[in-house]
Amino acid sequence: MANSFESFKAGMDSREERRTLLQRDGKPFFVLISQQFMRADIESLCDTATAIRRLDRHVEGRDFLRSMLRGHRIMNLFAQPSTRTAESFIAAADKLGASTRQVSDLRTSSFAKGESVEDAVRTLSSFFDAIVTRHQDDDFAARAAWALSRSGRPIPVISAGSGKSQHVSQSLLDIYTLRYSFAERGGVDGKDVVIIGDVARNRAARSLAYLLARFERPRIHFVSPDAFAPDDALLRYLDRHEVRTTINSSLATLLKDQGGGIDAIYVTRLQQEWDRGNNGIPDATDRGSADEFVLKPEYRSLLRPDCLLMHPLPRVNELPEEWEDHPGFMVWRQVRNGMWIRAALFAAVFGCDGEIRNRAARLRLL
Ligand code: CP
Repeated sequence: MANSFESFKAGMDSREERRTLLQRDGKPFFVLISQQFMRADIESLCDTATAIRRLDRHVEGRDFLRSMLRGHRIMNLFAQPSTRTAESFIAAADKLGASTRQVSDLRTSSFAKGESVEDAVRTLSSFFDAIVTRHQDDDFAARAAWALSRSGRPIPVISAGSGKSQHVSQSLLDIYTLRYSFAERGGVDGKDVVIIGDVARNRAARSLAYLLARFERPRIHFVSPDAFAPDDALLRYLDRHEVRTTINSSLATLLKDQGGGIDAIYVTRLQQEWDRGNNGIPDATDRGSADEFVLKPEYRSLLRPDCLLMHPLPRVNELPEEWEDHPGFMVWRQVRNGMWIRAALFAAVFGCDGEIRNRAARLRLL
């Protein structure tokens, strides 16, 4: 147990300490950053997601899934706007029979009276079995986890987006989508992935880059405005894990030179809301990416038809609708996969993932 929050955070940087701090009985307990997932953890989560998806197709399978977390209560504590993440965590809990409560406006809670994170989450642990949380502060979820790890009633904390830093459940659904799509093409290993956008402030882009480091020799081509290029800590981590990277300031140039070798393009929007300090709500007069960071329809001939096109959503102008009939357009599949992988995450956290995979295997669904 870490005595101070600073030592808890420092421990998260160390592979060994991280396991002690964030796991219980070999299972994820606090889900905070992509780096906490090893390759075997990712494979297991993806298999569980597939098992849940296939069991859910039949009445008996749905009844079985709903019995897994019956009686469990999940708190969705969202201090920033969300459509997909909040709703898919609720749908995921529902698939496994857990009930949920959503708090989307922290002004209606005692945070508004100055309550500390520590007191708030310890209070919530009296009524709930897990907390899913999104907050503009990079450290909110980690601080909640640290406070609960020192309490007499620790419950799991799952980050649903931490400031500008990480969006771990998004990266898990993105990897699930990549793994599924590359199943007949050797999997995610060795693939060339372009990540476009505001990498410095886009938590989905950063979490995906960290998670790609768990695969064999991928190559990541970042395309971002100079001011929002990937930070040194991320680049050092990727280098240490033998991920080859290139940094680019023009998408057109990259695709003209190397478009035929690209396996997936992950487009993200500029995170202009942070410029205004307005807590996740972009200013309507200031939305949209500059031309160099827009995947323009005229680039189509530069790409292979099997190149995957992905976006965490919401999008503004950076991935125009003209791409929707491209065979590699995966965006709506990503959204759906978010529910399956989040259900798998709940199953892993509460320790029923093995039972789900075994059931699916017995029915020859895996
Ligand atoms: N991808 C994502 O996090 O979407 P929301 O902000 O709508 O949850």
